[in-house]
Order: sequence, then structure tokens, then C-alpha cells
Amino acid sequence: MELELTEAQRGARDTARRFAREKLGPIGVEADRTHRYPAEAIAELSKLGMLGIFIPEEFGGAGLDHVAYALVLEELAVECASTCVIVSAHSSLASWPILGLAAAPQKRHFLPKMASGDWLGCFALTEPQAGSDAAGQKTRAVRDGDSYVLNGTKNFITNAPQAKVAIVFAMTQPEKGHKGISAFAVETSSPGWAVTRVEDKMGIHGAHSAQLSFTDLRVPRDNLILNEGDGFKVAMKTLDGGRIGIAAQAIGIARASLEASLKYAQDRTTFGQPLTSYQAIQWKLADMAVAVDAARLLALRAATLKDRGTACSKESAMAKLFAAETAMKSATEAVQIHGGYGYTKEFKVERYFRDAKITEIYEGTSEIQRLVIAGQVLGNR
Ligand code: CAA
Repeated sequence: MELELTEAQRGARDTARRFAREKLGPIGVEADRTHRYPAEAIAELSKLGMLGIFIPEEFGGAGLDHVAYALVLEELAVECASTCVIVSAHSSLASWPILGLAAAPQKRHFLPKMASGDWLGCFALTEPQAGSDAAGQKTRAVRDGDSYVLNGTKNFITNAPQAKVAIVFAMTQPEKGHKGISAFAVETSSPGWAVTRVEDKMGIHGAHSAQLSFTDLRVPRDNLILNEGDGFKVAMKTLDGGRIGIAAQAIGIARASLEASLKYAQDRTTFGQPLTSYQAIQWKLADMAVAVDAARLLALRAATLKDRGTACSKESAMAKLFAAETAMKSATEAVQIHGGYGYTKEFKVERYFRDAKITEIYEGTSEIQRLVIAGQVLGNR
């Protein structure tokens, strides 16, 4: 793995950092307060090419790599974790399976609209009874001539209310268990697609997660990704990349927690001295700084493997696990350093604390990451 970034990677990171510092800060505060989708941020990021970072130029993307992608997501998450996950779910979970696994006509149809940000994407795997146990799909897809007809319910789907395209998983042969699941690229304008509830969440208020209902939703057979029965593998391969995106989001939240704590500890005086003069505070800051850097190195290693086309399940699970736990610990320490002020909405650390928690849950809980890592360490996978 190269520790030195290329000019293109540095350029993408610096552009995202500038945008985040100049524009995203107030949007992040307001989106959290009002639960508003940050449409203007997504529109500006689309113009900057950030909705198609790793999509090749032939499909209208920026033609960069997953290292640049992870660096960009971190910068966005420092100011607005909601904007970050909107971009991450669109890119890793919706654009990538089309780019990496779909047939050429599907790529030509979907990718230019997704790279430009005109069509936002979502990933519809989770169901009321199929969260960690992703193979327990109840949604059915039944072949009818040149189409499949989908019926079922999906839960907690990030970007669902705004999405124009969804990667949907459904059982085509229930008796075959995980080998009976198929994956489809679905246009959300299709009759039978309905957003039935938007969740009222603890954090990432600007990123809307919804329940979906499919009623005789007809999908052309050509929109099948890979073959019938390959859906579980499509989901797992996609999540290998998605977990790098969530790791980057968690690193951004952890970094924001560290930066806010540094500033507060330098400004705040107790017992006649700045907080930074106390070892108890210095050690917290030191531990946060180490963990942020370690998490970034893990994420960039996983991104490098992904760019090489090498298997990265273990490495992306490690990055996601460590980064999510770093985000939660750093946000907790940040609130502690801020004392009573940290528990109020006057300071951003209260938001970081709420936003950090989801990184330990979505795209595979920390327990699932440990299962994936243990499976690889034990040689079972
Ligand atoms: N790549 C390719 N294939 C893979 C794979 C990978 N990373 N991981 C597993 N597979 C294959 C295996 O090789 C195996 O194939 P065969 O049957 O041909 O041998 C098959 O998949 C089954 O594998 P396992 O036996 O390991 O599967 P399992 O059921 O024991 O465990 C799991 C799987 C790791 C627990 C998995 O179910 C999982 O990751 N669960 C979490 C799901 C998840 O992350 N959900 C989040 C949804 S997205 C989201 O959060 C919403 C959002 O909008 C942000």
C-alpha cells in the first residue's frame, strides 16, 4: 500500500475539504435540527463530480479510485455525517454493483445518470425480519415472461425517499435459502414502488431512511444483476465496499470530535488553568488522535485492495469495526471534555455522539464485522 497520496487523490480530498469547510458546516447543523434532506449540498457535490467519484469517465464519472472516495467521505463527515452517508449509500451500495457486476447495457443506462447525481441510488436489502440475517429475505420475485414481479417490504433504506434507482434483493427460489436470492436494478418510478414510512432516528437526521413496500412491482428481466440466485453474493460483495464508506464516515465523525475537543480544551479554563494543562485531558486527546489515524490507515488499506480488485472482506470489516468504535469513543470523550456544555445543543459534540452510534449498526453491526473477521482469521470463509 502506498502511504503517499497521488496528486488526484490529494486534489479530490482538498476539494471536498474546502467545500465542507466553506459550505457544509451550517447545512449540517440545520439538517440535524430540522431533519431536512440537504438537497443543495448534494446538488453542489454533483457539480463537483462527487456523486460519481469512482465511476469511470466513459460513464460520466470522475474516474478516481476508492482511496480518493474514502478521503472525500471523511471530509464530508467532519461537517455533516448525513451528507456523507447520502453520498456513500448512493456510490458504494447503488452505483458500485451496477459498475462492478451488471451487464453492459445496464451500465450504459444507469451509470451516467447516477454519476451526474441526477439519479440518486439506494440499496434495498434489509427487511423487518432480515437485518443481520440478510439471507432471511421474504420479498418475492416471480418470473413472468420478460419481467419479474416483486412483492414485499424493506426497512431502514437510506436515500429511499429521494432515490430514482434501487438495488433490490428478493427471493426467486425460497427453497434454496441464500442461493435463491436475486438482485435487481429497479427504477423507483415503476408502478408498485411505495415509500410507506420515513424513520424518526436518533441521528443523521438529514439522511432519510424509509420503509418500502412493493406491490406487483414489475422489473425487466434485463435488470437482473448477474444471474438468478447470485443475489446474496451481489449483496456481500457490495457491502465489502460499502463498509469502507462507513469507515470513512466514522473517521470523519471521530476527527470532528477530536478537533472540537482540542479547541474547547484550549479555550476553557478550570482551577485557573486551561484544560489542556491537565494530563487527564491530554491522554484523552492523545488516544483520540492515535485512533483516528489508525482507523484511516485501515480504511485506506481496504480501499487500496478494493482498487486492485483483490478480496477485501476482512480488511473492510476491520476498518468499519475499528472506525465505528473509534467514532463512538471519540464522541463520548468529546462530550465528557465539554462537561455540561457537551450535553447541550449549543455545541456540536452532542450531534457527533448521536451520529456516531449508527456507524456501529448499519452496513453490518460491529458484531457482524467481528463474525466476518473471525471467519477469515479462522480460515472458515
Ligand atoms: N463476497 C462474495 N461472496 C461472499 C461474501 C463476500 N464478501 N461473503 C459471503 N459470501 C458467500 C459465501 O462464499 C457463501 O457462498 P456459497 O454458498 O457459494 O459457499 C455465501 O455467501 C454464504 O456465506 P456465509 O455462509 O458466510 O453466510 P452467513 O449467512 O453465515 O453470514 C453474514 C453472512 C456475514 C452474517 C451476512 O449475512 C451479513 O453480512 N449480514 C449483515 C448484513 C448487512 O450488513 N446489512 C446491512 C444492509 S445495508 C444498510 O445498512 C442499509 C443502508 O441503507 C445503509
